[in-house]
Amino acid sequence: MPTLDPTVTDRLIDRVRVHATRYIRRLPARQVRASATVEELRDALGGPLPDQSEDPVAVIDRLADHAERTMTASTSARFFGFVVGGAIPVAMAADMLTPVWDQNASLYVAGPAAAVTEEVARTWLVDLLGLPPTASVGFVTGGQMANTTALAVARHQVLASIGWDVERDGLAGAPAVTVVTGAERHSTIDRGMRLLGLGSQAVLVDVDDDGAMRSDRLAAALARNDGPTIVCTQLGNVNTGALDPVGELADIAHAHGAWVHVDGAFGLWAACIPRLHERTAGLERADSWAVDAHKWLNVPYDSGMVFTAHPDSHRAAMGTDRAQSAYLEFGEQTRDPLEWTPEFSRRARGFAVWAALRCLGRAGVVELIERGCAMASRFAEQLAAEPGITIRNHVVLNQVLVGFDDVAAADVISAVQRDGTCWMSGTSWRGEALMRISVSNWQTDVDDVDRSVRAIVACYRAARGS
Ligand SMILES: Cc1ncc(COP(=O)(O)O)c(C=O)c1O
Repeated sequence: MPTLDPTVTDRLIDRVRVHATRYIRRLPARQVRASATVEELRDALGGPLPDQSEDPVAVIDRLADHAERTMTASTSARFFGFVVGGAIPVAMAADMLTPVWDQNASLYVAGPAAAVTEEVARTWLVDLLGLPPTASVGFVTGGQMANTTALAVARHQVLASIGWDVERDGLAGAPAVTVVTGAERHSTIDRGMRLLGLGSQAVLVDVDDDGAMRSDRLAAALARNDGPTIVCTQLGNVNTGALDPVGELADIAHAHGAWVHVDGAFGLWAACIPRLHERTAGLERADSWAVDAHKWLNVPYDSGMVFTAHPDSHRAAMGTDRAQSAYLEFGEQTRDPLEWTPEFSRRARGFAVWAALRCLGRAGVVELIERGCAMASRFAEQLAAEPGITIRNHVVLNQVLVGFDDVAAADVISAVQRDGTCWMSGTSWRGEALMRISVSNWQTDVDDVDRSVRAIVACYRAARGS
């Protein structure tokens, strides 16, 4: 059985090192777009399942050689699509060791190191982000599951507060739970609601010119509302980067007995920037927070965290029935990670987050986030200098919306993607098709922005025929 021969491990690790260093070294010079087509990849990797075992080194070589060419270089310093972070080397290294150790981050006893790194990272993160020191945490796959977990905990608490046990009795016959959220919330809020049986009919609150929820409109919406309520606010509008006035919104919502969640998938990192403290003031008064490490902290996928100010509710919503699982060994004095996430067995996500925070320190995280903001502002200033190009949002964080006169944004975007210098995606905002730039990579510097601006301007001029 050659594929299970343990002696190949050394050779495989050597090959991984070769492929990894080659990929990383080529990044600055390679085009950001993929160089091979999907058909080429299918030809190289597809076909029927082999009848016989294949040499494992050959398998890895085949995968790396062919898959890499069909990759958009999303860890490139000139990748600005969606909200995609890269991978700082120390987090990547810790993440590479994670499957080597292959710890099951479910029970403390099964993986004490996995549990403890999560605990330490929790303590560092609540300090860095200004969350309540006693906040509970769950290490989840990303923003989607952080939002969904927070909504499940919120659902538990708002129903428990009126005497309904949703974990025992479900939602059939339960008092209706209303979710109130900004008109420009992220779609993961709606998906979380659907997954939790809350439906997708949220009460939508008007937003301001940049897409932040208006507090007067929230107050009006809550005045018309009755019963168990969850208010979902947002730090970091996915188009504009706008920050909801979370502290103010939390006070209004709490006066109505609502639970306040903050979707801060990328924007919660703004909380560690002294310059932005006024804009994030009072965020600690919310009840739950979602943040991604795999976006702006530049930890590899999959890595998100959900925090709540109500550990008992968090555990009530996520915990397992211990009596039903007699084979499990729960700790009395220790924290079992599975009680804080919807998952049971999973990889030890805490290692990479711990390594990133330990290596960057407070100053490093602040610098990382500040740099993203500064590079986004540089994009905005330089692009706005080109006649016919306008910036459509106030650049408060790392997001820039770009409009083009006389040509369709989609034409400029696809020309830029084909050119390969950089990669950005598009969006539709307030009925207008726009280019969308997100500076979320730890390496993006002045030269990357300037080269990218030149490429965008050249594509725009060509499309416009000027
Ligand atoms: C504001 C916001 N919330 C949630 C998400 C979803 O996060 P993830 O892709 O990590 O699930 C995103 C993704 O861009 C986001 O921007």
